[in-house]
Amino acid sequence: MQKERYSFIILAAGKGTRMKSRRPKVLHEVAGEPIISHIISTIFSIKKRIDLDKVVVVLGNESKEIELFIKDNFDGIDIVIQKEQLGTADAVISTKKIFKNYKGKIIVLCGDTPLISINLLLDLIKLSNNYKIGLSGFKAKNPFGYGRVILNKFIKVKAIVEESDASSFEKKIDLCNSGMYAINGKLLFSLLSKVKLNTKKNEMYLTDIIYLANKEGIEIGISYNKEIESLGVNDREGLAMAEKEMQIILRKKAMQKGATLIAPETVFFCKDTKISKDVYIGPNVVFGPGVKIGEGVKIEAFCHIEGVTIKKDCIIGPFARLRPGTVLESSVKVGNFVEVKKSKIKKGAKVNHLSYIGDSDIGNNVNVGAGVITCNYDGVNKNKTKIGNNSFIGSNVSLVAPIKVGSDSIIGAGSVITKNVSNNMLAVERNKQVTVRKRNKK
Ligand code: UD1
Ligand code: MG
Repeated sequence: MQKERYSFIILAAGKGTRMKSRRPKVLHEVAGEPIISHIISTIFSIKKRIDLDKVVVVLGNESKEIELFIKDNFDGIDIVIQKEQLGTADAVISTKKIFKNYKGKIIVLCGDTPLISINLLLDLIKLSNNYKIGLSGFKAKNPFGYGRVILNKFIKVKAIVEESDASSFEKKIDLCNSGMYAINGKLLFSLLSKVKLNTKKNEMYLTDIIYLANKEGIEIGISYNKEIESLGVNDREGLAMAEKEMQIILRKKAMQKGATLIAPETVFFCKDTKISKDVYIGPNVVFGPGVKIGEGVKIEAFCHIEGVTIKKDCIIGPFARLRPGTVLESSVKVGNFVEVKKSKIKKGAKVNHLSYIGDSDIGNNVNVGAGVITCNYDGVNKNKTKIGNNSFIGSNVSLVAPIKVGSDSIIGAGSVITKNVSNNMLAVERNKQVTVRKRNKK
């Protein structure tokens, strides 16, 4: 017997008007990643388990931004343009050419469900082995806004009714349509050819294929999935809800990897945050995209970390800001009110208090005193600061870049250093102190 083949259609051409945004809905981020990216990544993560033919994303006319994002980040995606946004059925119809004579199964997904899980996709695939048409449903705490799944007396799916068309009785139904379906390819387009325009909304509803299939005596399968997996982001409240749920998942994952989070509900991860074991994360820590944290790293309260690699046994914060392009080698300490940008701080170096380190290369075991500033920007260019191994930079020093301090050197506190300092030197730039006897008060 020939193995089943599968294709995916992701619908992302909707206007997303409820978001009230200049940015297309599916490019809004959840855990630092655009919504559409979560969906494509989840499909790609089951690539090895199924025979995957096509992944097609349906976009609207003004979706260049989404198209560029997809092309920059994923290979092998077909983009189809839905000329007019005439509803979810019309969006699927716009892929008709691609699926001419297609013999496989088609999984239709919505582009606005960032929490879609591998399990949900595998459930749809299983469903497609037993039914010509099936959908994923869920019991909602608050079903408002979702299409309701209507069952017949034998508890078989009969139809889906949209919120705006539902009677007051139907509105009480808490079994909702996730907007995700698994259908035999040929059947999908044959049912779509019979969908009529819903005149109330001037849209063709994809949900009508369920009613049409039932009318033709085709049994409809349903997989019962979790509500959060199907959470469709339609507005800013939905976005906040998706973020909340995603963070719960990511915090759990971090703890499963062996991290201690003493106040998990206050820590915010990105989808791509990489955590190792024995990492300690204090309260109110925020991770932006591109962070990798090595074993035994301690991050104290109120740190903001983005685009940074932190190697093992470093101690960060409290109140540190680590910005993109920063690499901290093992056992580095970055203390309170320290900002580090695009810099490499090597093994065992310390920047403990109130400093700005930008575009710098700081050697092994360097001690950077309190209040040290690398003056990296001259108003036009960003310039580099280099400090050799084992040097000591006194408190309140300004290092005016481009500048090099050799290894094993000392810079006296309060100096403004504008000339390079070679190895094994002591450099001080300071006015002589004047001390005079104070006048006696009468
Ligand atoms: C849809 C379903 C609803 C389901 C819910 C789940 C329909 C009619 N309703 O409602 O039953 O409970 O999803 O989240 O299908 N889109 C296009 N072209 C269009 C219109 C929409 O590509 O012309 C895309 C959107 O970009 C979106 C997806 O289809 O990603 C769903 O559209 P949306 O407007 O969010 O539908 P819902 O009202 O959420
Ligand atoms: Mg939606």
